[in-house]
Amino acid sequence: MTTCSRIVSVVAALGVVIGLAGPASAANEAAATYYKDVLPIVQENCQTCHRPSGHNISGLVAPMSFMSYEDTRPWARAIARKVESREMPPWFASEPKGVFENERGLTDAEIDTILNWVDAGAPAGDRAEAPPAPVWPEDLHDGWSHGTPDFVVRMEEPFVVPDDAFDINISFDVRIPEDVVPEDVWVRGWELRTGAEGSGVHHMCAFVRPEDGKVITGANKSAVALGGLLSCVAEGGESGMLPDGYGLFLEKGSVLNFNMHFNKEPGPGTSFTSQAEVGFFVEERPVAHQVITDTLGNNGFEIPPNHPRYRVGMARTLEKDILVLNLWPHAHLRAIASRYTAYYPDGTEELLLDVPHYDQGWQVTYKYREPKLLPKGTRIEASFWYDSTEERGVRRGFNADRSVGFGQRTNDEMALAFLSYTELDDASTTNDQD
Ligand code: HEC
Repeated sequence: MTTCSRIVSVVAALGVVIGLAGPASAANEAAATYYKDVLPIVQENCQTCHRPSGHNISGLVAPMSFMSYEDTRPWARAIARKVESREMPPWFASEPKGVFENERGLTDAEIDTILNWVDAGAPAGDRAEAPPAPVWPEDLHDGWSHGTPDFVVRMEEPFVVPDDAFDINISFDVRIPEDVVPEDVWVRGWELRTGAEGSGVHHMCAFVRPEDGKVITGANKSAVALGGLLSCVAEGGESGMLPDGYGLFLEKGSVLNFNMHFNKEPGPGTSFTSQAEVGFFVEERPVAHQVITDTLGNNGFEIPPNHPRYRVGMARTLEKDILVLNLWPHAHLRAIASRYTAYYPDGTEELLLDVPHYDQGWQVTYKYREPKLLPKGTRIEASFWYDSTEERGVRRGFNADRSVGFGQRTNDEMALAFLSYTELDDASTTNDQD
């Protein structure tokens, strides 16, 4: 959170207090109670993160639970502030709106209800009017949030992150056992779990490659075509299932690579263990589209010290029509903004994603409701902007005196504009070839 946006939210909150003096909201004010009016909004928009036992949503789990009136009541003023300034529920793309399935946000009416409730002293109301408590998939499926996986591949033994460790990047290869995956298989989803207690995991990525390690490219349907990234979970990141008709081809005997990044303050009693695992969901139905996760990365940059808004850009021109499933901008502590733009062959352009206040702590994957067609010849450009000033360095904990390039450590930087997509053969293309 920047000081600047704090000021904006204070000003905005004042605006609402003044607004509440109006006669229309006075009527609502009398009516809004926790059980009847506020709890349905909180269940729908807040409890996925604000609950004590979210098992596997990495940094999404908030330090305070809003599961009961007693838990929520002490936070009433903070809740009013955070919803009014639209900092909660968290969502970072200013544009486009309405195209991403995981977009979060409250309507103006929902915000008014919460503000009226807080303004009236946050009354409980009648418990009999409460909606039924939600059922979380994790509670039904041993901590997995998309149902019980068909098979699970796990690091062979737990890795110990010792007391004196600060930043560890380490990879583990696990060959998928033949009794687990006896035949080549299509999967329709996977979920990554770090198998660690606490918040010392900066990120976990899983890659898959064939046993002999050869990289297969071109028409082959193997997941390895472009580096074999399955996905990553980082602070604030999510995993998910592919849409119907999409899948990932997993060859028997493939090797799963767990790329783990641990980061914590060193000190006595800070050690912990991590035994990461990936749960896979098999697709039995025919799969039309092989999914590739890939990045328009730039790793040749050097961000100078003390620059307030240094830009790193990257681009690619598509050789085939593609359908894009999701976008995931990934960078580290200095990153303050990110943007993807499509320049179409007909000369028009479209803003695919604008994240004007990038925050490393919230690694959001922007998932399209409907896969997005980008025709052959489209140039995709992505940019990241970085603030490497002393001021931000003090707040975010990096050394502002040195220039920084691409690297794995939290104190290094990244500029990875990920996208997951499927390539369309010319025959299956809907756009005009002439
Ligand atoms: C995607 C997960 C997520 C969702 C959804 C979410 N929160 Fe949060 N919330 C967090 C996390 C993580 C924190 C702690 C870190 C932070 O403050 O950024 C937090 C912090 C807060 C705080 C504490 C701020 C302070 O003063 O310290 C409030 C209040 C809050 N959330 C309200 C809400 C409300 C109200 C909703 C629903 C309308 C909501 N949140 C939805 C993850 C979430």
